[in-house]
Amino acid sequence: MKERTIAVHAGLLHQTPSVSPDIVLSTTFRYRSEEISSNRYIYTRANNPNRQALETALAKLEGGSIAFAFASGMAAISAMIQTLEPSAHIILSDDVYHGTRDLIYDIFSNWGITFSSVDKTDVSQVQSALRDNTRLIWIETPSNPSLKIADIQAIADIAHQASALCVVDNTWATPIFQHPLALGADIVMHSTTKYIGGHSDVLGGVLILPEHLKDSVGEKLHTIQHLMGAVPSPFDCWLLLRSLATMPLRVRQQAQNAEQIAIFLSTHPQIERVHYPSLDTHPQHHIAQKQMQDGFGGMLSFQVRGGKNVAAQIANNVRLITQATSLGGVETLIEHRAMVEGPRSPTPDNLLRLSVGIEDVEDIIADLEQAIERAK
Ligand SMILES: Cc1ncc(COP(=O)(O)O)c(C=O)c1O
Repeated sequence: MKERTIAVHAGLLHQTPSVSPDIVLSTTFRYRSEEISSNRYIYTRANNPNRQALETALAKLEGGSIAFAFASGMAAISAMIQTLEPSAHIILSDDVYHGTRDLIYDIFSNWGITFSSVDKTDVSQVQSALRDNTRLIWIETPSNPSLKIADIQAIADIAHQASALCVVDNTWATPIFQHPLALGADIVMHSTTKYIGGHSDVLGGVLILPEHLKDSVGEKLHTIQHLMGAVPSPFDCWLLLRSLATMPLRVRQQAQNAEQIAIFLSTHPQIERVHYPSLDTHPQHHIAQKQMQDGFGGMLSFQVRGGKNVAAQIANNVRLITQATSLGGVETLIEHRAMVEGPRSPTPDNLLRLSVGIEDVEDIIADLEQAIERAK
C-alpha cells in the first residue's frame, strides 16, 4: 500500500459495521482465567483497541514494525530515555526542541544520565563527542527552531560503530517527507500533537521501532508504557487516527506554502536571513535534498533586521496569522522563540518561527507583508 492509502486504511477497526471507528471507552475487558497472560485486551492502560489501531497505522507509515503511543511527545521522549541505564551518555544537538533539552538537563541529569550538546550539521563533532558509555544519539532534523539539517545516515553509522542507538525526532519532517528508519536510524519519535494531529486540539507522542529492536528495546518500552502509565486516552487516539487520514494532503499543502513564503521573505529588505531547507542558500540544502522526499515541511524561521523589538512587533502585528506556540495545525502560527525558550535559549533574539498552515498562501504573505511594514 502507498502512504495515502495507509493513512486512510491502516488504523481502521472492523469490530462493527460503522465506517468511522468506534471509540472503546471501557477501561477494563471481560476475560476468562486461561486468557489472562495472552495478548488480548485486559485493561486500557496496557492496551486498548483505539490505541492499537493508532499504533498499527503509525508503525506502517514510518516503515516500522511496532509503535508505542504516549500521552504527549514529551512522554514519548521520557520513555525513550527511561530505557537507558542511569550511567548512560546521550549526544544531543545544540539546536533542539527546548523541552527535550530541559528534560535531560533538569530531570534525567539528576538520575545520573550525562549528555553532550553538539552541532549535528558537523558529523565530526558527533564523532568527537562519543564516550565509552554513549548509548543514544538524538537527532532532530529539521531542527527546532533553526531548521538545521543533520545527515541521518552518517550519524546512524557513527551510533552503530559505538553500539549506541540513533533516535530521530521526525515531528517536523513528518512521515511524508522523511523516513529515518530507511536511512539507518533505529527509532523514530513524533510529537503527534503536531502534524499528525494537525488541528491544534490533541496532545500525543509515539515511538516507532523496526523489527530487529522489537524484542530488546520494544520489551522495555512496552513495560515503561504500561507501568509509567503516560498513555493517550481512547478519544485522543481516535482523534489522531481521524487526522492521520488527511495528514499527507495537509502537509504537502503546508510545505508548498512554506516554500513560497520562504522565497518571499528571502527577497524582503527587512529580513536578514531565512531558514528553510529548500532554499539553495540553506547551508545543508544538499543533505536535505538527499534525505527528504517530495518537500521540506511546513516549518520555517527567519531573522529580522532591527533585533528583538522589531521581531516582537512583527509577531504582535499579524492579523490573519495567530501569535501562539506549537505547530503543525491547519492555521498559520508565528512566535518569537527566544522568549518562549527562556534564559537558556541559544536562539537568536531576532528570530521568528512560522508554522505554515493550509490557507491560501497569498493571504499569509499579505499578512506578513503588512506586519513587517508596520514594525519599521
Ligand atoms: C520537535 C518537537 N519534539 C517534541 C515536542 C514535544 O511534544 P509535545 O508538546 O507533544 O509534548 C515538540 C513540541 O513542540 C517539538 O516541537
